[in-house]
Amino acid sequence: MFAVIGGSGLSQLENLNVTRREIIRTPYGDPSSAVLFGDMAGYPVAFLARHGHAHTIPPHEINYRANIKALSQAGVSGIVSVASVGSIHHGLTPGDIVIPHQIIDYTWGRKSTYFEGRGATVKHVDFTEPYDKKLRCRLLEAAHAAGIRVRDFAVYAATQGPRLETAAEIDRFEKDGANVVGMTGMPEAILARELDIPYAAINVVANYAAGRADSRDGIRFELTPDILRESMKQIRTLIEKALEHDSQSRS
Ligand code: HPA
Repeated sequence: MFAVIGGSGLSQLENLNVTRREIIRTPYGDPSSAVLFGDMAGYPVAFLARHGHAHTIPPHEINYRANIKALSQAGVSGIVSVASVGSIHHGLTPGDIVIPHQIIDYTWGRKSTYFEGRGATVKHVDFTEPYDKKLRCRLLEAAHAAGIRVRDFAVYAATQGPRLETAAEIDRFEKDGANVVGMTGMPEAILARELDIPYAAINVVANYAAGRADSRDGIRFELTPDILRESMKQIRTLIEKALEHDSQSRS
């Protein structure tokens, strides 16, 4: 069973036929929301709303360890993370869908490992490729099969939030090689890796990053709901197709 973690714009999966909801307690505390279990087009799926069902938990206060551990306890075989981003790269415009391939982590002070604390083993987990290659490929194949245009690589800059960036910070991220910027991609990706759960992300560009294009003088988030709505519809279709591909590759 696959899990989807939904972020801003996707705090529910409309095509998920929910059969059960469960609050899964973990040794790290409670996840952001109850996990919804059900099926999408006949395929089993678990869904977790990253910011809570009422979207009340800001990025820096999300209990990422509890979220990923809860999905692990539920026995999921992969996690698809959906999150909105700002565009740093001039070729990416609001509404575009991106499957990132790399991450630069600028977050701080978040609980970002399971390997700490008294009695824990010291472990240095390989993170050269932060996203699971097979799962990324499956998403790309699904997008192709569904005729959904996606950008097949991008470097994701994970920022602390909840404030947006300064224009100079975005310039710096670009010099570092980042193409998109978001607040929740880390430590989610590393925690999934630590628990050996294949993890890949689908990002939707909600706005130009600070100081870019029509965000030159400020970011106007009120423009984004309409843009996001259409892209989120495409993302739901993409996930459905990916589930189909998953079942075909197993049979
Ligand atoms: N910056 C950081 N996170 C974001 C942005 C942004 O411009 N847009 C959506 N998530």
